[in-house]
Amino acid sequence: MTIGICNDHAGVEYKFKLIKYLEGKGHTVVNFGTDTEDSCDYADFAHPLAYAVERGEVELGIAICGTGNGMAITLNKHQGVRAGLAWNTAIAHLVAEHNAANVLVMPARFASYRMVVSMVREWLATDFAGGRHERRIQKIPLR
Ligand code: RB5
Repeated sequence: MTIGICNDHAGVEYKFKLIKYLEGKGHTVVNFGTDTEDSCDYADFAHPLAYAVERGEVELGIAICGTGNGMAITLNKHQGVRAGLAWNTAIAHLVAEHNAANVLVMPARFASYRMVVSMVREWLATDFAGGRHERRIQKIPLR
C-alpha cells in the first residue's frame, strides 16, 4: 500500500520511526512532513497530504502534530478526506470501522510511540463496516 505521512515539528521523531515501521511491513511511504524540529505551521504539511489523498496518489494518510487537532481541522477542509483523530487503539479501530477514515491523525504530545504504532496497526487492519455507516459518511461532504 502507498501511504502518505505528514507532521509538524512536534511529530518529527514519531514520523521517522513510523516510516521505518511501515516500510518494514512492505508499504511505500511518501513523506509530506517537515524533517526538522524547527517550529513550523501544520497546515503547510496537511494540505499537500490531503491533495495527494484526493488525487489518489496515496491510498491512505497518517498525520501527526502535538495535539492532532491542527492537522485534523486542516485535513477535513478537503472534501475527499475523512481525517479521524485517535489517541488509543479502540478509537483507531472505530475510526476505520465506523468513519472509514482515510487519514489517521495522532497527537505526538499525548500518545507514546508504542501507542502510535498500535493505533496504526489497528487502523490498517480494520475494514469499514458499511451499512448504516456508509449512509452516514455519504452525508459528510459539502456539495
Ligand atoms: C505546535 O506547537 C502545536 O500547536 C501543533 O503541533 C498542534 O498541536 C496544533 O494543533
